[in-house]
Parts: sequence; C-alpha cells; structure tokens
Amino acid sequence: MNSDEATTPADAVMCHCSGTKRGNIQSLFEQGLDVDAISRWTGALSGCGGCEWDIAEFLKELAEQQSSTSGLSRAQVDSTK
Ligand code: FES
Repeated sequence: MNSDEATTPADAVMCHCSGTKRGNIQSLFEQGLDVDAISRWTGALSGCGGCEWDIAEFLKELAEQQSSTSGLSRAQVDSTK
C-alpha cells in the first residue's frame, strides 16, 4: 500500500500527453489558477483526457490542504488577540 502524498515526487508526470508534472500543477494552483487555466497553461487535459481524474483529485487535495492551513493560521491569529 502506498500513500500518493508520501511517494509521488514533484517531478512525476501527471499528464503524459503534455508532459505536465505534478510540481507544475501544484505551483500553478498555488498562484491561484483553476483547473481550466492550468489546462490552458500546460496543455494538460487537452489530449486523451486520461489524466483528468488524477489531476482533479490532486487539485482537491491541494484545496483541502490550503483551506486547513488557512483555517489554522486564522485560529493562530485569533488566539493572539
Ligand atoms: S494524459 Fe493528460 S490529456 Fe492525455
């Protein structure tokens, strides 16, 4: 059994049609791009579509991490009042 988070490196290719790597997708997501913009920017999802589920799941994970992180920092700010 593998955990994707722990075992998948940033240079793993997520979209083989465009050669888009996991790290590229993460960095574009962190710049605020949504899945459509990431697709236009990288060419991911514009070929066979076989990466669609993986990329959607990855973006969902990133969004969850981001919201839990911002929730945490908000709580930290609140506790300093
Ligand atoms: S693997 Fe991404 S479009 Fe084909």
